[in-house]
Amino acid sequence: MSSNATLQQITSDLDLLEAEAAMEISSAKDSESLEILRVSLLGKKGRMSRVLGSMGKLSGNERPMIGKRANILKVQLQELLTERLKTLKLEATARELESETIDVTAPPSGTLLGHRHPLIVTTEKIVDLFCGLGYEVAQGPEVENDHYNFTALNIPEDHPARDMQDTFYLEDKLLLRTHTSPVQIRYLEENEPPVRIVSPGRVFRRDAVDSTHSPVFHQVEVLAIDEGLDFSHLRGTVMAFLKAFFGDLPVRFRASYFPFTEPSAEVDVQWRGRWLEVMGCGMVDPAVLEGLGLDPARWSGFAAGLGVERFCMVRHGIDDIRRLYTSDLRFLEQF
Ligand code: DAH
Repeated sequence: MSSNATLQQITSDLDLLEAEAAMEISSAKDSESLEILRVSLLGKKGRMSRVLGSMGKLSGNERPMIGKRANILKVQLQELLTERLKTLKLEATARELESETIDVTAPPSGTLLGHRHPLIVTTEKIVDLFCGLGYEVAQGPEVENDHYNFTALNIPEDHPARDMQDTFYLEDKLLLRTHTSPVQIRYLEENEPPVRIVSPGRVFRRDAVDSTHSPVFHQVEVLAIDEGLDFSHLRGTVMAFLKAFFGDLPVRFRASYFPFTEPSAEVDVQWRGRWLEVMGCGMVDPAVLEGLGLDPARWSGFAAGLGVERFCMVRHGIDDIRRLYTSDLRFLEQF
């Protein structure tokens, strides 16, 4: 072949290569077939090399001309390949996203693990501590009558002490109990002393809701009746209990008044720099024992009552009682 004929041949081969390669590249279906195509076009034994194989037959001034054309075509094809690869990758990502869309309305796959409410945990801890001291659990009804809630506890009708505990009255002298103290009477009616009981439960008062008041709250009542019990037993028991619950917070007893105990005291713990009342207690009033047919010359005892919410709040540093009732999981899950 003359150099002229070779030139023509190479030129038309390059034209054809340019046209066909562009088409093949744009129709490559995925990155693997694109790579195979790249090797077959530009690889060592690829089409480009084959076309240029006969360059040796060209004349001295034709060779650089074809060389230049071939280089431009090579760069052009490389750019087309890169572009196509980019497009294929984008398409693949889009397909993946489409097939992996998340159905936000589907039910969750895992089951949330619940746990006990901090008030329940606190109640159980208090009750446990007394059980460890030999006390038995006793419970009474939330709907009480006037007798158990007041009269038998030495709070006769028209006694001003009734104002301390205003409650919700139902029909027939029934009411929602204002404290757990009626359990003392109910238990002593059914059980001969000596007795030691601890009684957790829900109580009700006509209080407006604020950060420290709730019309429904929880108490734990404690009662011990035996021969020879005196104030030192009360004090020792309360101190041992508070130490077990709060650790080494300072404790003080303050003289107070409850109709069903004599003498009576309120107990404060020092918390965040101030004294905080945590429970009421006292020696069971002889009038209460007599009302139950127990001889105060033989039997004596002590009683105590505490608010579970207060204990829970001090223990966990909770600032507002309402947090314990609003069932906000963001709050509850901290415990
Ligand atoms: N029942 C009292 C109240 O709710 C608390 C209380 C005080 C209970 C002294 C007692 C006690 O057993 O001895 O305010």
